[in-house]
Amino acid sequence: MANMKGLAIILLFAISAITAVHCRSDHKNDPRSNGDLALWIDEKQVKMFSGMVMEIYAIRNGNVSPYILDPNFEKYLPIIPSEVSHVNFIWKAGLKKYYYNFDRLQSFDESILSAPVISIKTKGRVPRRPKEFSILLPCLGNSSGIATFSIGLLIESRKGRPLNGTPLRLKLRKECSQRNPDPECDKKCANQGWCNREKICQCPEGYMGQYCRTALCYPQCMNGGNCTSPGVCSCPPGFQGRHCEGGICSEKCLNGGKCIQKDTCECPKGYYGLHCEYSKCIISCHNGGKCRGVNKCKCPQGFRGDHCEIGRGKPHRSTCKIACKHGTCIDNNCVCEPGWYGRLCHHMTLK
Ligand SMILES: *[C@@H]1O[C@H](CO)[C@@H](O)[C@H](O)[C@H]1NC(C)=O
Ligand SMILES: *[C@@H]1O[C@H](CO)[C@@H](O)[C@H](O)[C@H]1NC(C)=O
Repeated sequence: MANMKGLAIILLFAISAITAVHCRSDHKNDPRSNGDLALWIDEKQVKMFSGMVMEIYAIRNGNVSPYILDPNFEKYLPIIPSEVSHVNFIWKAGLKKYYYNFDRLQSFDESILSAPVISIKTKGRVPRRPKEFSILLPCLGNSSGIATFSIGLLIESRKGRPLNGTPLRLKLRKECSQRNPDPECDKKCANQGWCNREKICQCPEGYMGQYCRTALCYPQCMNGGNCTSPGVCSCPPGFQGRHCEGGICSEKCLNGGKCIQKDTCECPKGYYGLHCEYSKCIISCHNGGKCRGVNKCKCPQGFRGDHCEIGRGKPHRSTCKIACKHGTCIDNNCVCEPGWYGRLCHHMTLK
């Protein structure tokens, strides 16, 4: 029972990037037949949750999946439902040697959730052949709420060089709910949930909640869609697709426009046209400014004027010293530490 529920953390690797999900039929690129490091969620677990036969990779062929490195990744993650108490992963090192360290396992709300627990040692060598491990998410059981927790995973090569993209730092949310016995349980359990001896509804796969009324969808329904039964999303107007991930616009909305209804784009301020292709700034914005209204530009730091044509006096003298994030200010230029780049050394290089 608990096992099937493990599912969801899929969540972990979830998400809008359905493209990142690789179907089983994808035999040619099957990383299990490749010699390098892989970490994935087992297809049986995914199937129980979503009805789809697929595996979800966090690492494949020795590379961390790009969607995990997307800075917006955590924003897409749904809250892990209370029924999901653990998630099973499989990994294998292949021919090379790799060492791992779960260097962060922390709950930020210890009155609701204890720190996550790994079913293996927190440090060690990644097994050569595929082997399973679990991450347990132990709700205390006597209080309800949503707890934030974090997991950190460092993977190093035999020579002690971190795998690109690690340490992985994930901050996730988990729902914990105290389920109270209800004497009228046998009348109230929905969706073929059954009332157990303690008068608590036991939900069938794909449903959760005190009375099993909440269906589970993975990946979660996007763009305001509702999960109406396990794995089925009902999409708002303008969206389609299994997870409501696609707008119904035959031509793409440009300049940050959103597809809100069939062939209808909602344009950001500063753009108009069927596909938001026209700018309201007849004189275009200079120096990287963005059009925000009729001939009004939003200027980047250091520039002003309706078209961002005016540079502020010596902008770098004042900004450099204060603002060099990961570097040293030399002659009004930030000289970045290794691993960082950008005017203020605020971007991390993904080597
Ligand atoms: C919940 O249980 C834990 C240990 O089982 C205890 O320390 C804590 O005080 C309890 N909290 C409440 C609100 O009862
Ligand atoms: C989703 O459910 C909410 C609440 O029941 C409702 O207001 C909303 O219209 C629904 N959205 C869709 C796309 O069905």
